[in-house]
This record gives sequence, structure tokens and C-alpha cells, in this order.
Amino acid sequence: MMTVPFSDLVAQQHEIDGEVRSAMREVFESGAFIGGPAVAAFEHEYAAYTGTRHCVGMGNGTDALEAALRAVGVGRGDEVVIPANTFIATAEAVLRAGATPVLVDVDEHALLIDPAAAAAAVGPATRAIVAVHLYGQPAPVERLEPIARSAGAVIVEDAAQSHGARRHGGASGGLASIAATSFYPGKNLGAAGDAGAVTTDDPELARTVRMLGSHGSERRYAHELLGFNSRLDAVQAVVLSAKLRRLEDWNVRRRAIAVAYGALLHDLDELTLPVVAEGNEHVWHLYVVRVRDRERVAAELAEAGVATGIHYPVPLHRSPALVDQTIRRTDCPVTDAAAGEILSLPMFPHMTASQVVAVTQALRTAVHAPALPAERVVIPALERSGSWPAG
Ligand SMILES: Cc1ncc(COP(=O)(O)O)c(C=O)c1O
Repeated sequence: MMTVPFSDLVAQQHEIDGEVRSAMREVFESGAFIGGPAVAAFEHEYAAYTGTRHCVGMGNGTDALEAALRAVGVGRGDEVVIPANTFIATAEAVLRAGATPVLVDVDEHALLIDPAAAAAAVGPATRAIVAVHLYGQPAPVERLEPIARSAGAVIVEDAAQSHGARRHGGASGGLASIAATSFYPGKNLGAAGDAGAVTTDDPELARTVRMLGSHGSERRYAHELLGFNSRLDAVQAVVLSAKLRRLEDWNVRRRAIAVAYGALLHDLDELTLPVVAEGNEHVWHLYVVRVRDRERVAAELAEAGVATGIHYPVPLHRSPALVDQTIRRTDCPVTDAAAGEILSLPMFPHMTASQVVAVTQALRTAVHAPALPAERVVIPALERSGSWPAG
């Protein structure tokens, strides 16, 4: 039986191995472990990649989001509108900034924050709306902008799941005045440990973020703000620079896999396939289908050797971790319905054509659909992809 993992980070490491080893030796021999030339180089490269003027490396994405929120002035007494369908870190960052998360519903197609729900939730206390670019595609930032503006609030991007995605041509991380991202290893651009960053065009916001992540100081022992410690280290920067050079290629492969999944699964009434919202270039951080009887289907896939995930099984408005926190909940029927049906299929750049076929055949069996005849599973998008791993 062919087993298909959910992701394969070792294959990524093998691709960058030689390059990273020599850069790593330079880091170790320089003694510049926090900050230094490797970090500055990556910050420069990632700012250019997102089309922004400044990138500030941070220790992880949650800290980056907290710093971005605090830099735009979010604090005690403020409300921040966030989608209920996101990773818990989005809410943690708002709470750690001292503000109240206002949880709103998502749209039923892309499962991204619903501008109508955001518009209904904003009020005099709203200081920010977090546009979470979930699963690999940007939230409709330009539709959120006027809502935020009318409330005297700003948009902050949570770009943790969207490295390389674009909306109406603009790069994720550069679609609003400030963005936070995570380089958690499993992300499209992942470090060899925890890492994150903030991107912005505004030098003052960048300066504040850098100070916040460095104990509130620009110069040693001159602490102007109450900050914390969250800095990008040189070892992570070396890995990130090497992977950034391959990110476009890896995202092309993710797109080819998404096309293949679509071609091999679109005839199934039991499944709802993910959609790309108009104006978006999706980078398929996750390939999330919807299926009734999800637990049984996931269990059958596991038995067939196919790993799956659920992003996310418990919506934020139902999270036990947030029960005692100051939160404003709104009705989220779309999020609630989705949480019981969503299933993330394996999706990683080094996935082989046969692994894609194995996933789709196992899924077809699980929903009692006929297997596809062999001649139907030759997928031009896969075959054309020159560097596609065989097997
Ligand atoms: C949407 C979203 N926001 C924030 C984060 C937080 O990032 P980190 O785990 O690096 O703190 C993540 C990922 O983990 C995420 O997926």
C-alpha cells in the first residue's frame, strides 16, 4: 500500500541542503546568531518579494501579529474584527495586545472573512480588521478597506498561509498598511523552527515593530516601550533565503496538484471542492474539500494510508481556550457548518503524481464512487511539470 503523508518537509530540506550547509557554516563562524547579515539579507529579500519597503523578522507569526496590531495602535478598550474560521493564533495576538476579538463569519465559498459580516460587526471601538488569507488565498482586502475606514480602523493582514499569493496583482503581505506572517515549518515558506515577520511600507510602523520585538528598545538598554523578545535568528534566515528562491517553483507545483485534484474529483456529488475567489492567485497552502460524513471518510483514508487534516475542527467562537476571555461573538452559521465538513487533503510541493492519484482513488472509494479508469488519471498538468518527481 502506498502511504501519502500530509506534508514532506524532509524533501524540501534535501533540495536546499548543500546551499544551506555552507551558509550555516558562515553563520556559525561569524558568531552573529541574532540579527546580523543573514537576517538583514532575508529581510531585504522578503520585503522585495512582497513589494513592501520594510520587513522585520520576528520569532514567530503570533508575535508578529501582536506587534503589527500594537504598532497600528491597538490596545486596551479596542475591538479587532477577525474571522471565526482561522487558527487560534489570530485571536491570541488580539488578546495579547489587550484588545477584544470580535468573531465574525466567513463566506461560504472561499471560507474567508465575509465583508458583510465585518460591516455588521464594526462600531466605535473597532480599531482594526484582520484580513486572514486562509488556506493560501487572500481575503477581499479592498472590500474590507472602506468598512475599516468608515469605522476609523485599519486593515492588518494575517498572511501566515499565503506566501506568494496575489490579489488583483498585489502580493500577499503588501495588500494593506501592515501584514504579519508566520514561517512555521509547514507553511509554504517555512523555516527549520519557529519564525515570522512583519511587512509594511511605513518606516515608523516598521521601527515600532522592531522595537516591540526587541524589548522595546532600539539601542541596548534604552527601553522606550514595554516590548518582548521575538527576533529572527540567523540560522532560520539562511533556511528562509534558500527556500524563498524556490518558493515560486514550489507554488507552481502546488497549483498543478490542485488542478489534478480538481480533474480527478470534480465528478463527485458527495464532495465540494475548494474555489479560487475572483481576483485571487491561490498558492494552495491547504487543499480543503467539504464532505458529509467527514469522520468516516477521514478514517477510511487513514486506513488506506492517506493522511488528512482539519483546518479547523473547532471554530474560535466555540473554543474552550477562549471561553473565559473577553470576546464578542456574532452568529457564524457558515463557519459552524463548514467545521463539521472540511477535510484537508495532502498538499506539498514534492508530492508525486502517483501520490495524487492514490489520494483521489482512496477518496473515491471512501465516498463509494467508482475508481477512475487508468486512462483518465493521466493529468496533463502533472505530466507537463518538468521537475515533477516521478513515481
Ligand atoms: C492564520 C495563522 N495565523 C497565525 C499563525 C501563527 O503563526 P506561528 O505559529 O508562527 O506563531 C498561523 C500559523 O501557525 C496561522 O496559520
